[in-house]
Amino acid sequence: MQSGRYGAKRIVDMHCHILPEVDDGSKSVEMTLQMLQIAQAEGITDIIATPHYQSGRFYTPPDVIEEMIVKLREHAMQKGIHIRVYPGTEIYYRSGLEEQLDKGKLAVMNHTNYILVEFAPLDDFNYIRNGMEELRGMGYIPILAHVERFQCMLEDIERVKSIKRVGCKISANAGSIAGDYGFRIKRYLGKLLGEQLIDYVGTDAHSAERRSPRMKKCAELLYKKYDSRYVDDILYGNAERNLLEEDE
Ligand SMILES: [Fe+2]
Repeated sequence: MQSGRYGAKRIVDMHCHILPEVDDGSKSVEMTLQMLQIAQAEGITDIIATPHYQSGRFYTPPDVIEEMIVKLREHAMQKGIHIRVYPGTEIYYRSGLEEQLDKGKLAVMNHTNYILVEFAPLDDFNYIRNGMEELRGMGYIPILAHVERFQCMLEDIERVKSIKRVGCKISANAGSIAGDYGFRIKRYLGKLLGEQLIDYVGTDAHSAERRSPRMKKCAELLYKKYDSRYVDDILYGNAERNLLEEDE
């Protein structure tokens, strides 16, 4: 059992590069198991594996992701790790994604119509908004990955609201909320959290070392500063209702 105010609760990491040797995340099965052990110690109970999809650079087909997760569950069970792992992808936006998505070539978030979408840090706001709207128009519910990473989003909170108004969702990285990426980022996310504009939190972990799946510091800060029902929602409830439904 974990300690702290969230001890008895479940926590979902909805953004994690935990699958071995498919992108710039985990480098081996051993590292993946170490990441799972860290995650368990951090109070994480569910992980959506989101390997990068970036045209010409990273691509893992959905059936490969599913197979890896089955194997991972076996390894985890042998090690006494009780974390549920679900399929997903972090999709780097470019125009023309429709075809990939419609043909089922990209793993959506646990077989739902939610997709995790990222852009380049310096992409123009109109480009990001139009991209998100385009995906929403295709029937998907895009979740913007790490909102705090985009310069244009840092400049004006209204931009976050405008993306949410068209039915898209917003996520932030746990380490950024906890202050690991500086005061400016922490303060910005504090403003978004104060207005309840964040929908999901992920670790965006890439390894068992520097970028490992840490959630404890973030969760403690959230429960200390914000409405506990809202914190329950962004750490677990929203994912439970919308992303984890189809787990067997
Ligand atoms: Fe990521």
